Amino acid sequence: MAEQLGELTRTHTGNDLRLGDVGADVVLLGWVHRVRDLGGVLFVDVRDRAGLTQVVFDKDDEALMTKAKRLRSEFVIGVEGQVRRRSADTVNEKLATGEVEVVVRRLTLLNEAKTPPFPIADDTAVSEDVRLKYRYLDLRRPRLQANMGLRHRVTATIRRYFDENGFWDIETPILTKSTPEGARDYLVPSRVHAGEFFALPQSPQLFKQLLMMSGVDRYVQICRCFRDEDLRADRQPEFTQVDVEMSFARPETIFDMIEPLMVEVCAVVGKSVSAPFQRMAYADAMATYGSDKPDLRCGMPIQDFGGLFRESGFRVFREIVAGGGTVRGFVVKHAGGYSRSEVDGIVDRAKQMGAAGLVWARRADDGTVTSSVMKALGEAEVVGLLDAASAGPGELVLVAAGEPDATSTLLGKLRLALARQKGLLDPDAYAFVWVVDFPLLEWDPEARRYNSMHHPFTSPHEDDVALLETEPGRVRAKAYDLVLNGSEIGGGSIRIHDAAVQRQVFSLLNIGPDEAKLRFGFFLEALEYGTPPHGGIALGLDRIIQTLAGEQSIREVIAFPKTAAAVDLMCSAPSPVDAKQLRELHLVPKV
Ligand code: AMO
Repeated sequence: MAEQLGELTRTHTGNDLRLGDVGADVVLLGWVHRVRDLGGVLFVDVRDRAGLTQVVFDKDDEALMTKAKRLRSEFVIGVEGQVRRRSADTVNEKLATGEVEVVVRRLTLLNEAKTPPFPIADDTAVSEDVRLKYRYLDLRRPRLQANMGLRHRVTATIRRYFDENGFWDIETPILTKSTPEGARDYLVPSRVHAGEFFALPQSPQLFKQLLMMSGVDRYVQICRCFRDEDLRADRQPEFTQVDVEMSFARPETIFDMIEPLMVEVCAVVGKSVSAPFQRMAYADAMATYGSDKPDLRCGMPIQDFGGLFRESGFRVFREIVAGGGTVRGFVVKHAGGYSRSEVDGIVDRAKQMGAAGLVWARRADDGTVTSSVMKALGEAEVVGLLDAASAGPGELVLVAAGEPDATSTLLGKLRLALARQKGLLDPDAYAFVWVVDFPLLEWDPEARRYNSMHHPFTSPHEDDVALLETEPGRVRAKAYDLVLNGSEIGGGSIRIHDAAVQRQVFSLLNIGPDEAKLRFGFFLEALEYGTPPHGGIALGLDRIIQTLAGEQSIREVIAFPKTAAAVDLMCSAPSPVDAKQLRELHLVPKV
């Protein structure tokens, strides 16, 4: 039978008591974490979100002991008692409260608990599906409690930072119209207007621009966005952005505002990072790292060896270069000790990733040169390749040839896979980089049309505006992504503030005047009433916390996430609704 809380009031959290508290009368409220019955004495670890404290029931008080013997894991209790020093042999150094214990005088059993489906501990081997079904129990585990606490502290830091910098926190609608960010919309049927739908925002993009037109000048919102897209370890159908917009902004205005913020955010986990962050053009990131979100923790830049092989005796490479392709590769350090089968394994891996072949050359620790193409290339060319790559003793060069972009993309994937496998990605290092000068448009060969690389409101680079007419594919955008350890943690741009340019970009995107009016008429009209130059960024809060927490999955830093199949296993959502509701929403014919 559960007892009442009554006047019982916590005096200390589970992490508070120290030697200095010995002799104090205290009240702890929390969950039974663990019970150890040593016959004459019963030890209970009482847990709350702050930590654990050991409490002791002594056999002298028989009634109390009888009551205490009923305690099981996850029962909710209140204990009143006196703090005493633990004997030297029972001190628990792993616990902040481990030098003391509370001798219980009175126990209040506030609630019982069924046996949980998994123990409330970090090292529990339990499937993620079970964890998500019982998320409220999962969230009691110290690791997730720490993640939630971290998330709170980061959010608080962000709010304070923007307040100090004159930003207004303004909420924008959730029931709205489609905002194109490249995913499908979640739609909400209107009961009042048959056959019409709201869309949940993929981002508040249009609203934050409208706020600049409204004279707000500096806007921030920590807001939920909704995207119906294929999920991955770093994607959720609803996720949180730190959404920012500034009037009269150049890209540098945004960088200068966001960099000190990230320095403060990293300081929340005790990490010191220094600004300004590195900047890298999109084209360089793609050529040198085979990715628009390069992980710069492991070096290993991709180098171009095309020039070396123009006149080569090795026909395959010579012909690829002559045909407009190239030969590229990267150096793996400390690879002198890789066995032959390990090196062959790398070649196989590259083939699985789609490489037609992968050539390698190595200088052993003693300087001996070997290569998979020693015969075809000849020793002089192999040495020439190693020299060109600046590969010293113990270093291995991996080389692929083909169409330049595809070759870099493949090598980029191989580079990351190797870096992960060999533990070259230091989890304690924080490598920030701004990727800039994205192309404005990307060609979709299947649909035979251009899509926006960022979104349709992104401004073309001033120097490239003339190319909009002639070579739209070559127009650079004033867009930038912020990348941290290979994860895209933010993206933004300077916006188009001229209605004519906006119309021109819509038409390049195959959005004709009628469709533009239907979808964005209000916005095009607003652009004509004195729109200041403006720009902004949205940071992916969940991804930032994921990196700070060192988690492999975004789900570990979201209180109630959805599975990779976009399902909430705890409340079973989505779920069918009854026919009456569907009829009211005009989703089935009325009978
Ligand atoms: P973008 O689409 O690049 O830009 O989104 C900004 C950042 O949000 C994060 N993000 C996600 N996080 C978790 N799950 C997802 N499904 C997901 N999708 C995106 C990423 C990304 O960098 N309106 C523009 C911003 C702007 O131009 O100001 C926008 O939404 O970290």
